[in-house]
Amino acid sequence: MDLAHRPNILRYNHDRYVRLGLWLVLLAVAGYVLFEPAATEPYGGTPVGYVLGILSLLIVLLLFWYGIYKRCPTSDRDRRFEERRTPEAQGKADRRNKSPAQSWRYGQTLQGWLALHINLGAALIVLATLHTGFEFGWNVHTLGYGLMLVVIASGFYGLYAYLNYPRRITDNLQEDTLEGLLLKIDELDEMARVKALYLADEVNELVLNARQETVIGGSLMQQLNWKQAPCPTRIAVRQLQKLGKKYIADDQPKYMRDLYSLMLRKQRLVERARNVVKCKSRMDAWLYLHVPLSAAMLAALSVHVLSVLFYW
Ligand code: HEM
Ligand code: HEM
Repeated sequence: MDLAHRPNILRYNHDRYVRLGLWLVLLAVAGYVLFEPAATEPYGGTPVGYVLGILSLLIVLLLFWYGIYKRCPTSDRDRRFEERRTPEAQGKADRRNKSPAQSWRYGQTLQGWLALHINLGAALIVLATLHTGFEFGWNVHTLGYGLMLVVIASGFYGLYAYLNYPRRITDNLQEDTLEGLLLKIDELDEMARVKALYLADEVNELVLNARQETVIGGSLMQQLNWKQAPCPTRIAVRQLQKLGKKYIADDQPKYMRDLYSLMLRKQRLVERARNVVKCKSRMDAWLYLHVPLSAAMLAALSVHVLSVLFYW
C-alpha cells in the first residue's frame, strides 16, 4: 500500500483510532488499579487479568485481519462498498458530514484498517503487559509476550519507513526512475571509457575498475546500508584528481578534466541510485520480520492459551 500519499494515516478520520486506542489504555489502567485485588499479586489469572488477556488476543486477531483484508482484490472491496452504499447509508453519512467509506457500519477503507491496526497494535503494549501482572519467566507465555513486543517494534519501524522513505526516494530520483538512473550511469561509463583511451594505462585501469566493480544493490546487507566500501567509483574520482597533476603534457589536462567531471557525475548518480535502493529495501525488509514473527507469536500465544485452559 502506498503510504507516501497518506501522510495523515496516524490522524485518520479525526483521530478516531488514536482516541479508541487511548480509551482502551485508560480503561485497562483503571481496571488494573481499581479492580485487581490488593490481597493477591496481580497476574493473568485474575478476573481483570482474564479480561485483559482475552481483549489482547481479540486485538491480535483483528491485527491479522488487516493482512487478509489487504489481499482482498480491490474490485471485491469496491463491490462490497457499493453494495453497502444504500441511500440510507449515504443519508446518515451526509448528516455526519463524512463518507460512508469511513464508517464501520458501511464498510471501511484500507487506510482505516491500517490506522486501526497501528493504534490498537500500540495499545496492546499496555493491555498485554497489565494482563501479565508483570509476571515473567522463561516459559512459552513470556515467549509469546516477547515476540509480540518485537512485532510491535518492527511495526513502528515500518511506520517510520513508510512515512519517511517515499519522500527520500522521490528526492533522489528527481525526474528519473531507478532504471533511468542506471542507464545514465551506463552512458557515463561508456563516455569515460572512450575519453580514457587518450590517456595512460593506469587511468584506463581506474575507469575500467569503476565500471566493472561498482555495485548498486548487491547483497541484502549492502542494499540496506547502501555503502560499498571501498567504492571503486569514489576511488577513481579521488585518484583522477591526484593524477591531474601528473599528466600535464599537450591535451592531457583537458582529457583529465573531462574524465574527472564524467566520473564525478557518475559518482553522484551512483549515490542517488544507492539511496533509492536503500530506501526501497528498508521499506520491504521490515515486513520480513513483522509477518513471520507475527505468525510465531500467534503460535506461542495459542500454546499459552491452550495450556492455561488445560490447567484451569
Ligand atoms: C496477547 C495475548 C496474551 C499475551 C501476550 C499473554 C501473555 C502472558 C504472560 C507473559 C503471562 C505471564 C506468565 C508467567 O507468569 O510467567 C500470562 C499469564 C496468564 N495468561 Fe496470558 N497472555 C495473552 C492472552 C491470554 C488469554 C487470551 C488468556 C485466557 C484465555 C490468558 C490467560 C492467562 C493466565 C490464566 C495467566 C496466568 C498463568 C499463571 O500464572 O499460572 N492469556 N499471559
Ligand atoms: C501484535 C501486533 C501486530 C501484529 C500481529 C501485526 C501483524 C501484521 C500483519 C499480519 C500485517 C500484514 C502484512 C502483509 O500481509 O503484508 C501487518 C502489516 C503492517 N503492520 Fe502490523 N502488526 C502488529 C502491530 C503493528 C504495529 C504496532 C504497527 C505500527 C506502529 C504496525 C504497522 C504495520 C504496517 C505499517 C503494516 C504494513 C502496511 C502495508 O504495507 O499495507 N503493526 N501487520
